[in-house]
Amino acid sequence: MIGHRFMGKVHSHAYRDLPFFFDLPVEPVLSDLAGRNEEELKAAADAMGWASYETDWRRLVERDDIDVIDIVTPNNTHAEMAIAAAEAGKHVICEKPLALSVSEAERMLEAVRKAGTVHMICHNYRFAPAVQYVKRLIEEGRLGRIYHIRAQYLQDWIMDPSFPLVWRLKKEVSGSGALGDIGSHILDLARFLVGEMDEVTGMMKTFIQERPLGEMSGGLNARTDRERSGQVDVDDAVAVMARFQNGALGVFEATRFAGGNRNGNRFEINGEKGSVRWDLENMNHLQVYFTEDEAGLQGFRTINCTEDVHPYAGAYWPPGHIIGYEHTFINLLAEFMRGIAGETAPTPDFEDGLQNQRVLEAVEESARTGTWVKVSRPGSLTGQ
Ligand SMILES: NC(=O)c1ccc[n+]([C@@H]2O[C@H](COP(=O)([O-])OP(=O)(O)OC[C@H]3O[C@@H](n4cnc5c(N)ncnc54)[C@H](O)[C@@H]3O)[C@@H](O)[C@H]2O)c1
Repeated sequence: MIGHRFMGKVHSHAYRDLPFFFDLPVEPVLSDLAGRNEEELKAAADAMGWASYETDWRRLVERDDIDVIDIVTPNNTHAEMAIAAAEAGKHVICEKPLALSVSEAERMLEAVRKAGTVHMICHNYRFAPAVQYVKRLIEEGRLGRIYHIRAQYLQDWIMDPSFPLVWRLKKEVSGSGALGDIGSHILDLARFLVGEMDEVTGMMKTFIQERPLGEMSGGLNARTDRERSGQVDVDDAVAVMARFQNGALGVFEATRFAGGNRNGNRFEINGEKGSVRWDLENMNHLQVYFTEDEAGLQGFRTINCTEDVHPYAGAYWPPGHIIGYEHTFINLLAEFMRGIAGETAPTPDFEDGLQNQRVLEAVEESARTGTWVKVSRPGSLTGQ
């Protein structure tokens, strides 16, 4: 695994818990952790249960005894690492957003296709049992034709103007701001649950233009160098409207300036026969409404998605014994392992990552030009 801070800890934990809850045909072995600062890296490897560490990630890619490369580094490193890993015949799992641009994402997809190895992108929110259950309800036609999805990803961790200019606020490292960091998750959920988008229009805003320099220090915390400052060149907030190929309409908002919302990742879907509502901060619950319910008893009911019938929930505790954020990653990695064992072709994969990147790029173009922008066709690479 390359990278060892926020997502490094989340993924390490998930690999360790995976065999505890899932009976899988292959079992992950935490071999080597890569990073740049040896002292920090060694401490992280020891704390998170990795057998060894390497200060140059390229050495991991060259090794014959390593089968999987997991990329949990900033977005500007994903393409180089994933392509090198694929070319060396490794299975690759990469954090989101897949890349800085559509062209990078296309090269990544090309590389893994050529290698014939298993690839996934970590849109972990797909793997909450309640979200998987929504997918099932939609596929079974229980909501009928889908009219609307409205989704928000609301955070507030950079509202303080003295919060530093970390990598997530630099375009050359992150690609975009709230759009790629958290907007990518709700746009992925929309693709997963409702379908492909035909065209989008968006607006983007940077509220705080200049910040002191600084670095992420784990989780969403940072260290600040108050002596020097720099320019923010990514969006603090973005709003998107979308027309889906199946006729549904989408309205999305992603911002890190929604005071009081620490990690408000929410959606509501309305169909001709019913509606659903989900909120990550209350992730075991799903609110469901059916138009066929008897008059007088109509309204949203709240389901605790912890029964065996709810996907993945049965791997954990008895009904009502709730699970959390980290379990979405364990569930995702269970699919990755099944893919490596040859049982499935797990998704979301790099093709989903590429299509997500196309949506992100279309939103940016729309925000720049003030027009609706077509989202190009999924499943194809430019020139094919
Ligand atoms: N799925 C999710 O919900 C989720 C949540 C947070 C972050 N992410 C994604 O995970 C990735 C990492 O984010 P994070 O929050 O863990 O970042 P972070 O700043 O906490 O950690 C980044 C890690 O990458 C290492 N690193 C940076 N450049 C490197 C290089 N050139 N070579 C080797 N190591 C390098 C750093 O030393 C550090 O260990 C990003 O792509 C981010 O968008 C996903």
